Amino acid sequence: MKYGYAHMNTAAGERATPTAQFNRPAVSDKISALRQSAFDRQIPTADDETLNFLITFLSAYQPKNILELGTAVGISGAVMLDICKTAHLTTVERDEKFFAEAAENFSALGFKDRVTQVLGDAGETIETLEGQFDFIFLDCAKVQYIKYLPRLKNLLKSGGVLLADDVLLFGWLTGEAPVPEKRKMLYTHVKEYVDAVTADKELTTTIINLGDGLALSVKK
Ligand SMILES: C[S@@+](CC[C@H](N)C(=O)[O-])C[C@H]1O[C@@H](n2cnc3c(N)ncnc32)[C@H](O)[C@@H]1O
Repeated sequence: MKYGYAHMNTAAGERATPTAQFNRPAVSDKISALRQSAFDRQIPTADDETLNFLITFLSAYQPKNILELGTAVGISGAVMLDICKTAHLTTVERDEKFFAEAAENFSALGFKDRVTQVLGDAGETIETLEGQFDFIFLDCAKVQYIKYLPRLKNLLKSGGVLLADDVLLFGWLTGEAPVPEKRKMLYTHVKEYVDAVTADKELTTTIINLGDGLALSVKK
């Protein structure tokens, strides 16, 4: 069956996959208002299905030390902190305006003390980070996912989870939609990531057909 894939900034409630009608995230009124404001201004933030998966998964998993690559204005970060009440979030964003707005949002929500925001390139930043994380949310430059993978595996604790967003690329990876000529490089690099995490003997991975596709990898 064919169906349209939502873009990352799909307005809340728009259908992405056949399951989207069921997968509605419940977030606080304050976060909901910030999220709607992001959608209204075309600021990228996780779609309903992806956010709902994140909420459901983290409600059970309860990581303590979270790394996010791709803060945007802090919506997914705020949701993760809201679900994981004792967790610390390190989150990286290269866009100065998004970084500043995320800082305001984290403060307004009372999360300031539980966040380390980094302004910079994700690839450069991960080389400088110390310690290990029990959850990594990879949600920035998709074309770079494959390049980041070896370092992200090092930054992940044994038993930790690496969740990469947007890995099915509007149905291009599943063959449901043709790959536009101009996006072949993006397709190739994301396919390399999916092939790498599904073949990696140090990871156990499931590709999940929700939102725009998730790769959930657990480090052995
Ligand atoms: C999909 S958005 C993140 C959405 C956010 N995680 C959420 O759900 O609310 C991706 C973000 O990654 C940032 N980004 C893209 N490439 C980056 C890079 N190489 N380093 C750091 N940030 C990057 C973009 O500026 C954008 O804000």
